Amino acid sequence: MSQKLENIQACVFDAYGTLFDVNAAAAHCADELGDNWQILAEIWRGKQLSYTWLRTLMDEYVDFEAVTADALDYAMASLGIEDDGLRARLLALYLELDAYPEAAGVLGELQAKGLKTAILSNGNPRMLEAATNHAGLANKLDAVISVDAIRIYKPSSAVYQMAVDQLSCPAQSICFMSSNAWDVAGAANFGFQVLWVNRFGQPAEQLPGKPAGEITDLSGLLSWI
Ligand code: 2OP
Repeated sequence: MSQKLENIQACVFDAYGTLFDVNAAAAHCADELGDNWQILAEIWRGKQLSYTWLRTLMDEYVDFEAVTADALDYAMASLGIEDDGLRARLLALYLELDAYPEAAGVLGELQAKGLKTAILSNGNPRMLEAATNHAGLANKLDAVISVDAIRIYKPSSAVYQMAVDQLSCPAQSICFMSSNAWDVAGAANFGFQVLWVNRFGQPAEQLPGKPAGEITDLSGLLSWI
């Protein structure tokens, strides 16, 4: 018997790693990077996230586009890669990351069911507009909510509160999806009903805030709603 979430009014999605493939930029440059593309993608993503956490703790906000460029600089330096043209191509590709194949269909089905759909992301508005337009998701989203308005990154509770305020839904009526287990913990701890999109079969984080369930890609959501 499949489990169900009760009284959901809105489905809110993390962007990077959940709707969009954060490894796609480096993968598209695999010809130039060779076997290094995967380790570059891993270091780039890891530093991008740790810089958001550290800058929030330091109260030194810059937008996600700047953080993403800084993290790429670190990743390229750590692999001894000096190539301004490649750097520019990677950053341009990051603005148009491939969406996961099931994303558009799931969003369309949620809207057909009368549910509100939204992105809640660290991405700044320009990044999110570029990504949603490129992936053809813009008309499947009722709202695109960026932390840039409050200049604080996830998993601060102030970020999750933005979805409650902008969607006019109580937290327990929001189903939040993320592939990032730390984001899942923050959102569940805040009070959303959370499904972890565990795309890579990772173990659970040892953090407060547990998801209601785990799915391997977004299509698993439809049996929960
Ligand atoms: C987000 O899109 C960084 O994946 C995180 O907010």
